[in-house]
Amino acid sequence: MKSLRLFLWGLVFAAAGFAAYTYMDRLGKTGPENVATAEIGGPFDLVTHNGTSITRDDILGRNHAIFFGFTHCPDVCPTTLLEIAGWLKELGEDANRMDFYFFTVDPERDTPEILQPYVASFGEGITGVTGKPENMAEAIRAYRVYAKKVDLGDDDYTMDHSAQVMLFRPDGRFFGTISFGESNKTAIEKLRRLTTGS
Ligand code: NI
Repeated sequence: MKSLRLFLWGLVFAAAGFAAYTYMDRLGKTGPENVATAEIGGPFDLVTHNGTSITRDDILGRNHAIFFGFTHCPDVCPTTLLEIAGWLKELGEDANRMDFYFFTVDPERDTPEILQPYVASFGEGITGVTGKPENMAEAIRAYRVYAKKVDLGDDDYTMDHSAQVMLFRPDGRFFGTISFGESNKTAIEKLRRLTTGS
């Protein structure tokens, strides 16, 4: 009886140890933000600022950053896109190992014709993404982004939206975020870690 009890306790400790080990292992892989990585991102069916089709399969295979915003945004979006343009310059060669996407949360107004000159005004290297409103709504859900239409009256509206740049590894695994207002130094550190696969 005593040996059976010892054996059962042994099982309990082994199970606890295994649980702790897998938990630590998960923590170790969640990237800089230590955020739960479970299923951020998913399939989408959209178009680029050039009007060509783009799906999630097209963006996998390379490190990528996605920022959701809209061209009518008065402050957060243009500021973020300026920062992205700055990161691209500072990353130099490393910038060739990743792609930057600007997904519009306002696909009704942000047609490819509107998006193309907008992203181009921040320099090369940022791909604008839009599409049918229902398809963009699906992408917004898949990437767990917050976006909400705010009525301004007189048939005008603005979009309230989350402001972080999301980083992903080539296999689509979530790597972390760069928050709005985060220092250039930590942003570059994260991007270098991502592009060097460390
Ligand atoms: Ni914005």
